Amino acid sequence: MTRIDGRTAVVTGSGNGIGRAIALALAGAGANVTVSDVLPDDGERTVREITEAGGSALFVPADVSDADQARNLIAATVERFGGVHILANNAGIGGGQQRLHEIEPDDFDRVIDVNLRGTFLCSKFAIPHFLAQRDGRIINTASTYGLIGAPKAAAYCASKAGIINLTRQMAVDYGPDGIRVNAICPGYIDTGLGRRGPRLSAEEFTAATAIREKAAGMQPLGRQGQPAEVGEVALFLASDASSFMTGSIVTVDGGCVTTFNYGEASN
Ligand SMILES: NC(=O)c1ccc[n+]([C@@H]2O[C@H](COP(=O)([O-])OP(=O)(O)OC[C@H]3O[C@@H](n4cnc5c(N)ncnc54)[C@H](O)[C@@H]3O)[C@@H](O)[C@H]2O)c1
Repeated sequence: MTRIDGRTAVVTGSGNGIGRAIALALAGAGANVTVSDVLPDDGERTVREITEAGGSALFVPADVSDADQARNLIAATVERFGGVHILANNAGIGGGQQRLHEIEPDDFDRVIDVNLRGTFLCSKFAIPHFLAQRDGRIINTASTYGLIGAPKAAAYCASKAGIINLTRQMAVDYGPDGIRVNAICPGYIDTGLGRRGPRLSAEEFTAATAIREKAAGMQPLGRQGQPAEVGEVALFLASDASSFMTGSIVTVDGGCVTTFNYGEASN
């Protein structure tokens, strides 16, 4: 069984969905976990789940797109746990379902700010600690939508493709320092974002859900994934079991990017 006892991890966007599952997986394997989210009630709930299971966790609120909040997230973690070894850049938002010419510039910027800039900022403030100890693991949550051109998801696809090549770039810069940087590309996962997408009306929600379910059903494994199935892969990438992996882009998608069957879903 994979263990990461004595390590400290920061997981952004861990009040819900995939981030929550990553936090639970890392804590279950022995790490101290800083749970972070813009939704304090949801983040505190994840902390309770961890502590009630005998783990060690702290909640720090942070909007990852804000430099001061990202800096404070890492600083508060180091203050509480005495260091930081693992960073899971997971916080992310969708972007509605529009073609590019229909997207408001501010909406485009917001998706890039949370998904890509947030990954940059949290990494920026964690890496000095990793450099000092010549050890660190970064796991970025990208998406299969960063690997393909998916319908009506311009900002999201661009942000996730950015995360993918940022992952490769960081692996090059920091490999010599003992810092490993990998990305996970989830396919259709059964979460809030996976089910509804952001800011969808009731009709759009119903339509998007139907499209997603149909699309998931056409993938080789024939279903949506569960968040815990992503959490387990994040634990692998955070642990010594993946000690020769860096710059890797790992799909966790039931085989969906290998097929031709993409629907109009916002994931
Ligand atoms: N669910 C899927 O099918 C799917 C597929 C591919 C990739 N992803 C990616 O997985 C990650 C998690 O998605 P999810 O499906 O669990 O979504 P979710 O909406 O269930 O959870 C995302 C969490 O991130 C938080 N968050 C949003 N904006 C934030 C910000 N600015 N700062 C900090 N926290 C913020 C939310 O409050 C929420 O708790 C995202 O990066 C998403 O793009 C999801």
